[in-house]
Amino acid sequence: MSKQLILALSKGRILDETLPLLADAGITPVEDLSKSRKLLFDTNLPDVKLVIIRATDVPTYVQLGAADVGIAGKDVLLEHGAEGLYEPLDLDIARCKLMTAGVTGQSPAKARRRVATKFVNVARRYYAEQGIQAEVIKLYGAMELAPLMNLADEIVDIVDTGNTLRANGMEPRELIAYISTRLVVNKAAMTMKHDRIKPLLARLESAVKKRQ
Ligand code: ADP
Ligand code: PRP
Ligand code: MG
Repeated sequence: MSKQLILALSKGRILDETLPLLADAGITPVEDLSKSRKLLFDTNLPDVKLVIIRATDVPTYVQLGAADVGIAGKDVLLEHGAEGLYEPLDLDIARCKLMTAGVTGQSPAKARRRVATKFVNVARRYYAEQGIQAEVIKLYGAMELAPLMNLADEIVDIVDTGNTLRANGMEPRELIAYISTRLVVNKAAMTMKHDRIKPLLARLESAVKKRQ
């Protein structure tokens, strides 16, 4: 294993909040990420590189060791599974909830419930735990449209302000999990590159505390 450290960052809404935390931990990209079509970036530290990828791909990169460290939402981690990963730090950004939701005023279907979501593993697990029969329908976005179009009775999705639900005639029902952004580390890298990862963790932890 090379002594180079690869950090996988989720592009999208958590990237802007991730970069100041990394800067506090002493890591800054050498070029402006937003002005580049590149996916792999050098940093001020010669042996640290950043890859900027889809949030849902971050656990895969870290689990398989293509990246040593990753930053991803707990929702993505719950859906992907934690095999081969340590999750040592809550970065306390992009806080939201993973919830079930349905059409406002409509009580949940009694018999087999049709559930639209991109979190199919989380949803299957949740309904099984509740003893509710569910047919889980995989979507890639705009879950809030599914009950409106009679594609599903209920959805499992991220809720923050509730504005998206309200705007589509829906309301939150049950809380599945509180979500925030987490730091994950490849299990082998945690041992092999402990001398590099430990100080990074310590500096990120103090950067998070400073903001609280
Ligand atoms: P995607 O393109 O997969 O929806 P986003 O960039 O929108 O990715 O979201 C990245 C992460 O931010 C999610 O995995 C989740 O943890 C969190 N998140 C998503 N939506 C919200 C929201 N409305 N408010 C706060 N955090 C959110
Ligand atoms: C996320 C999520 C919900 C919405 C919840 O969507 O999938 O739709 O935010 O936030 P709210 O409760 O504050 O309305 P996002 O904005 O990321 O759009 P996306 O469908 O492109 O992921
Ligand atoms: Mg989104």
